[in-house]
Amino acid sequence: VFANVAQAPEDPILGVTVAYNKDPSPMKVNLGVGAYRTEEGKPLVLNVVKKAEKMLLNNPSRVKEYLPITGLADFNKLSAKLIFGADSRAIQENRVTTVQCLSGTGSLRVGAEFLARHYNKRAIFIPQPTWGNHPKVFTLAGLSVKTYRYYDPKTRGLNFQGLLEDLNMAPSGAIVLLHACAHNPTGVDPTLDQWEQIRRLMRSKSLLPFFDSAYQGFASGNLDADAQSVRMFVADGGECLMAQSYAKNMGLYGERVGALSIVCESADVAVKVESQLKLVIRPMYSNPPIHGASIVATILKDSSVDKAYVFLCFLREMYREWTIELKAMANRIISMRQQLFNALSARGTPGDWSHIIKQIGMFTFTGLNKEQVSFMTREYHIYMTSDGRISMAGLNTKTIPHLADAIHAAVNR
Ligand code: LMR
Repeated sequence: VFANVAQAPEDPILGVTVAYNKDPSPMKVNLGVGAYRTEEGKPLVLNVVKKAEKMLLNNPSRVKEYLPITGLADFNKLSAKLIFGADSRAIQENRVTTVQCLSGTGSLRVGAEFLARHYNKRAIFIPQPTWGNHPKVFTLAGLSVKTYRYYDPKTRGLNFQGLLEDLNMAPSGAIVLLHACAHNPTGVDPTLDQWEQIRRLMRSKSLLPFFDSAYQGFASGNLDADAQSVRMFVADGGECLMAQSYAKNMGLYGERVGALSIVCESADVAVKVESQLKLVIRPMYSNPPIHGASIVATILKDSSVDKAYVFLCFLREMYREWTIELKAMANRIISMRQQLFNALSARGTPGDWSHIIKQIGMFTFTGLNKEQVSFMTREYHIYMTSDGRISMAGLNTKTIPHLADAIHAAVNR
């Protein structure tokens, strides 16, 4: 009965890893998926995560019961605090509802399904370009996806004028997807002053912000600094949606741990919204997995959760340890940027490559075209997405000369 099912293409991002795995070449390098690698090219489990897992294992009262539909309560509270700030008025006024979801994608999807059922506008504006999965998530939820200008290929920076014009033309009430920091795939973020202008324009037109925060801590190495765009929008008292992921900043990729928060106009509304989120989640996957969320809650926990002083110091210590490990990951990526830039300069590769050090977060949007990318894959066994994005987190001191040679050859063809 399925004989007529057509062969589907591989995913444009995850399919790069599939192709990489099939390549027998010893010189192959995977710069496709945004997943952190050590200087030795190995996946990293943070020490603080190992510690938290040990604590969980040693806790005799720990069971594997179902979580509530909305997930682990501590995890939800702590996640909202992490992104909105400990002093957030919206949290203090109980206007925020947070549900644990399956990482960033799951949070986006639950939010999109909720909007499709309970918001009276269909249009969602996403940046051009954006993460390849965004349009699919929103379209499948029944929203109508439109784009706003974001990236200027000439300057390899932000097309701020284009962005303002497009948002200004958006119908009142439309949903707007915003990357909270470290825009994927471009590595280009608005400045705080530009964020303020975006906020003012969006609020004046009643556009509804839907933030995707997949890289908190990865842009600047500082969790609070990377949340500033979001906090501006929440401080003005308005509503928004927030999808959070712990894949990158805690390295919990395969644990699928994330959260959807909806900031509402009142505590009353937040209670009703949460009741409807449960109706979205229950028929999809019933309730979320317990392990990853328990790790995150253990690391984020603070005095509001546990009163035992010694234990508390230990937990605070874990949070501090996390911020140090996070900063180390962010710094290694920054040093890869500098090394790649230097390697291209040393080769005299034609063109201006300063965007490699100007862009932030996990990715560099190189400006290499499809043909150049496939040449680099064919001849140099370098795997990256066809839009020219490279994951800087996949590079190390040993692979940089090889990548620089490949880029040099590709642009000189
Ligand atoms: C990426 O953009 O590489 C990551 O967000 C991983 C993914 O799921 O695509």
